[in-house]
Amino acid sequence: MRLAGKLAVITAAASGMGRAGVELFIREGARVVAVDVDPGKLEALVAEMRGKGGDVQAIVADLTKTEDCKRFVDEAAALLGGIDILWNHAGTPGPAGVENLDLQAYETSLALNVTSGILASGQVIGHMRKRGGGSIIFTASVSGIVGSMLSPIYSSQKFAVVGLTMSLAQRFAPDKVRVNAICPGPIDTAMLPGFLARDGGGANELASNTQKILAAIPMGRVGRPEEIAHAALWLASDDSSYVTGIALPVDGGMVCR
Ligand SMILES: NC(=O)c1ccc[n+]([C@@H]2O[C@H](COP(=O)([O-])OP(=O)(O)OC[C@H]3O[C@@H](n4cnc5c(N)ncnc54)[C@H](O)[C@@H]3O)[C@@H](O)[C@H]2O)c1
Repeated sequence: MRLAGKLAVITAAASGMGRAGVELFIREGARVVAVDVDPGKLEALVAEMRGKGGDVQAIVADLTKTEDCKRFVDEAAALLGGIDILWNHAGTPGPAGVENLDLQAYETSLALNVTSGILASGQVIGHMRKRGGGSIIFTASVSGIVGSMLSPIYSSQKFAVVGLTMSLAQRFAPDKVRVNAICPGPIDTAMLPGFLARDGGGANELASNTQKILAAIPMGRVGRPEEIAHAALWLASDDSSYVTGIALPVDGGMVCR
């Protein structure tokens, strides 16, 4: 087991890739705190994982809120007795274009995509120092490596996540805390249709954008949540002990074209 005895926290954990991460980390021996804004989905996740014998606890938090970003870290540390791994997975597509921008929606996406990770990292580093090290993982995106025509705001915020990763990797290296980002391509989760239905939001955009995206992926398919969870497992575990500051594409070859 790759995470035997490790204390792990995952945000946006009640669905999609985060949920796959909870399941995989438990299977690999971690004790996990799942953080999400949706209490109903968290409850269902905890019931299912405990039914399989998993050591999982839940914290309800809205990570667009400053106070929740700090609170969940300290509460998770109290529940687990420390934190070795923090996967900052929460994020949102946010507003589509820059024309007639809804500033409120922009601020909310900035809060979730960027600020939440900054606040949580600033809060968790003290807990990781007490454990003698740790691993912080961010979920960025292929849109954090190359610009996105459909989602310029999302792309700017995911570039910020990659910049944050590379900066914190240097800053936290003396503390034996590694900091890395995963850059997923399109992954089959509840969030994907929201991206693909841009710009008009109708069925036509969904169909034509889906075709365009598939044509841009050398492997010719979208990814599965477990394929991102496995990348997170590698970055969380000692298997990646000499890896810090990377932005790892897990994208079927999308950004290598
Ligand atoms: N799905 C994709 O194609 C794709 C591709 C690249 C990157 N991403 C990134 O992956 C992450 C999303 O993961 P997913 O695709 O597994 O999504 P998902 O829609 O399956 O799950 C998102 C989860 O986030 C939770 N959430 C939403 N707002 C929240 C908030 N304010 N506070 C706390 N939790 C909140 C939801 O309740 C839900 O459980 C984001 O960071 C996104 O930018 C997704």
